[in-house]
Amino acid sequence: MRSPRRRLARRSGKRVFDQFDEPSSKGLFGIGKNNGTAHTPIDGFPAPEALEITPRAVKAGDTWFRTLAIVGWPREVSAGWLQPLLSWRGAADIALYFEPLANDTAARHLQKQRARFSASLAKSGVNDPMTEVAATDAEDIARAIARGESRLFRLGLYITLRADSLEALDAETYKVKVLCSSLLLDARPTTYRALEGWLTTLPLGADQIKLRRTFDTKAGADCFPFATGEMVGHPSGILFGRGVSRTRTEATGGGGSPVFVDRFALPNHNMLILASSGAGKSYTAKALTGRSALQGDEVLIVDPDDEYVRLTQALGGEVIREPTQQPKEDSRVVCYALGETDESRLHEAVGQALGSVWQRVDKGPVRRRQVVVDEAYLMLRENPEASYLLWALIKRSRKRLCGLTIITQDLADVLSTTLGESIINNASIHLLLRQTEKAIDGIGSAFGLSEGERSFLVAAPQGQGLLLVAGERAALKVVTSPLEHGLCVTDPASQLVAANR
Ligand SMILES: Nc1ncnc2c1ncn2[C@@H]1O[C@H](COP(=O)(O)OP(=O)(O)O)[C@@H](O)[C@H]1O
Ligand SMILES: [Mg+2]
Repeated sequence: MRSPRRRLARRSGKRVFDQFDEPSSKGLFGIGKNNGTAHTPIDGFPAPEALEITPRAVKAGDTWFRTLAIVGWPREVSAGWLQPLLSWRGAADIALYFEPLANDTAARHLQKQRARFSASLAKSGVNDPMTEVAATDAEDIARAIARGESRLFRLGLYITLRADSLEALDAETYKVKVLCSSLLLDARPTTYRALEGWLTTLPLGADQIKLRRTFDTKAGADCFPFATGEMVGHPSGILFGRGVSRTRTEATGGGGSPVFVDRFALPNHNMLILASSGAGKSYTAKALTGRSALQGDEVLIVDPDDEYVRLTQALGGEVIREPTQQPKEDSRVVCYALGETDESRLHEAVGQALGSVWQRVDKGPVRRRQVVVDEAYLMLRENPEASYLLWALIKRSRKRLCGLTIITQDLADVLSTTLGESIINNASIHLLLRQTEKAIDGIGSAFGLSEGERSFLVAAPQGQGLLLVAGERAALKVVTSPLEHGLCVTDPASQLVAANR
């Protein structure tokens, strides 16, 4: 028989907000508001119709929730040890709470612990290795804290599982408990505190359960969600995408850690994006360009298909149609949009735009600057002058704090020229998105790709590929926010321009 359930409808929602400081506020999730008028959830806040609470689960809307709290922890942890749990493929919300302990509290805490250890060692009179080790550990930590090298944290870890029915929830619970056991974690349902458990894993930052364990800085850092064996990147960088684990499937969202890259932290600041048509080269370049511009970098774009116009406008930049025209002094985002240029003049126009960019890079003040040249092969092939300018830009860019992004779909074009070779050799960042069967062998040997990497690239969906940064490599999925996505997709107007070419 199931235990009796309490029903918590909006009218009787008191219990929820009793726990928060402001009972007079509208109430979280729109429940608990009872002023006689029709209930409207707080604008923008999702609000369940009613909550049904049982000892071990909460039902909100049609979904059952159960929270597990971690009550047993392993003795030792290493970097990224929580990753199997954090990237679990099921429907789970995981909350990790870190609360720093004041140093004097920590010292008192440790002193007590050490006293306990020495008492127990003295009492037993025999050598108990476990207690001895623990006592030594406590001493080490106390010393590290005294030296200011470490701190203590109270850490809580909670997992809320979701399912459509109680039976499914039980099944999920079992699976997660097994997974936790494999990590030496003891996960227990927050019995009779199901609602508190659920609230604890909502993105509110309010730990209602407070089942915590003390960690020092290092052990705490090892629990950090993004500490994995994947590419480390640079903390000062912009988001390039998320790591893709090739053992995980698309259905689970790939789930990898965010990868940040700062091109100005690398020996040269250039990037080569190489992929077949439609693989997402321009999309990626737009996303990265937008993020760099928001970070304060100056961005100059040579855009044969008017693809970057919307992005430039959204960033408050300057769109220039006349390739010989210099941008305004204070423009930070500049797009040479050549989509209206007559086909027969296009190569010349690209060369001229590149000349204007060169002027700005070479003669203007030195500042963090990026130059984006989409579909570079247009120039490599037909316009020796433009090729020379590109080569000069690549060579000079580092001294001028300038990073080039060169986008092309044809490695043969790139490799067959000395310019192409110098592009590859002078780019610290190579992003390879989907490749054709025909191209993969050339790419594979040029970049030293393994069989697995080659087949990954041939089958890669839009926006996924390999990122090679200064000797490191990672499978990457380029991710965008909805706002970015709207600015990065190829809009019909620029598609038309491209189709007419
Ligand atoms: N990372 C991504 N996420 C979502 N959609 C993408 C992504 N990359 C590419 N696309 C889709 O693919 C289309 C073609 O991408 P695009 O960058 O124009 O290809 P190309 O490699 O030819 O420059 C985009 O308009 C967009 O709809
Ligand atoms: Mg493109």
